Amino acid sequence: MSNLSSKINHTFDFAGKQLRHLVETYPDYFPMYTQNGKWKHGGEAWTNWCEGFLGGQLWLLHEHTGDAYWREKAGHYSRLIEHRKTDRAVHDLGFLFWSTYKRWYDLTGDPAINQVVIDAGRTMGLRFKEKGQYLRSFVADESLFIDIMMNVGIIFYAARQTNDADLLRKATQHCLTTRKYLVRGDGSTSHEGIFNTETGEFLRQSTHQGWRDDSSWARGLSWALYGFGTAYSFTRDARFLQTAEACANFYIERTPAPGVPPNDWDEAQPQQSYESSAAAIAASGMWNLARLTGDPARARLYRDYALRILDTLTEPEFLAIETPGWEGILKHGCYHQRKGLGVDESVMWGEYFFLEALSKASTNEGTNKRISPAEASHSFIR
Ligand code: GLY
Repeated sequence: MSNLSSKINHTFDFAGKQLRHLVETYPDYFPMYTQNGKWKHGGEAWTNWCEGFLGGQLWLLHEHTGDAYWREKAGHYSRLIEHRKTDRAVHDLGFLFWSTYKRWYDLTGDPAINQVVIDAGRTMGLRFKEKGQYLRSFVADESLFIDIMMNVGIIFYAARQTNDADLLRKATQHCLTTRKYLVRGDGSTSHEGIFNTETGEFLRQSTHQGWRDDSSWARGLSWALYGFGTAYSFTRDARFLQTAEACANFYIERTPAPGVPPNDWDEAQPQQSYESSAAAIAASGMWNLARLTGDPARARLYRDYALRILDTLTEPEFLAIETPGWEGILKHGCYHQRKGLGVDESVMWGEYFFLEALSKASTNEGTNKRISPAEASHSFIR
């Protein structure tokens, strides 16, 4: 692990090459997953949730290198998605705007940029179903997705910025409903909950991207691990930290030593051995937990485990550095196994959270420093 910092620099250099190729070869194109290692293809998208991850990577590259080229490209790709701040068709405005406009605002302090983040958070709040107390997924009114835990943070942020108590209530209730119905006693998670839209009664757990309704889709659990940590950083509600830690414990207990799970832990003979994007998200989420937990031993555990994942993902088995012609950064991701979309490929969110986790590891965020309650009331954690 001693050479991790040189691996991080080496990986950012490689990411720079791959991203320069992407934006110069396919200008203004927003890829989602590769096919045979190539970003441009006519494959189905299922839903449009990935358009912030390219701008997000460009902001991360700018932060890491200070290079004006990346800043110009990051601003450009961010501006291209501004109109999505009022998009009510998807539950993913946190993915779109937290990775782009929020990073842009952190860099500039420009209130007009911040307003875009707030607008997106307010749009997300419109998804709230009073009957059932959750933010509906893009699929239907009756559907709650675990993925939305990654998009509720932008609602907490908008509520805080505008002192909107009702928006805060909606975000908090969504987290409590998700915790109650989608997180199981062993810390595993269900992908989807189905509700009776007339009464708000919870009916059953379900899945789209996992193996079975009662199984554990790895990326969904990583979204929960990270998202409940974010909810805790905004609210300091101990139930959310406890839930994030239960998910982290499940991940650690059930994943083979190198730290990369298959698409679903319960699939007896996994179609693919690895779902690298779940590992990248978990690594970034565990950095956050290391700072949020009050227990020094647990902080060390999460930090060391995140480092273990990154050590694995920066090897050529995962990093595409020795795979000629491959246009992505991180191999062995999976989008939608059942639909056969982006299976054993690079995926845009995997690239983004991989760079985000590496960035945390390379800065003082990667220390065991715990975020204090005072600090937390003025800031939040990615
Ligand atoms: N739709 C989010 C995901 O595939 O994880």
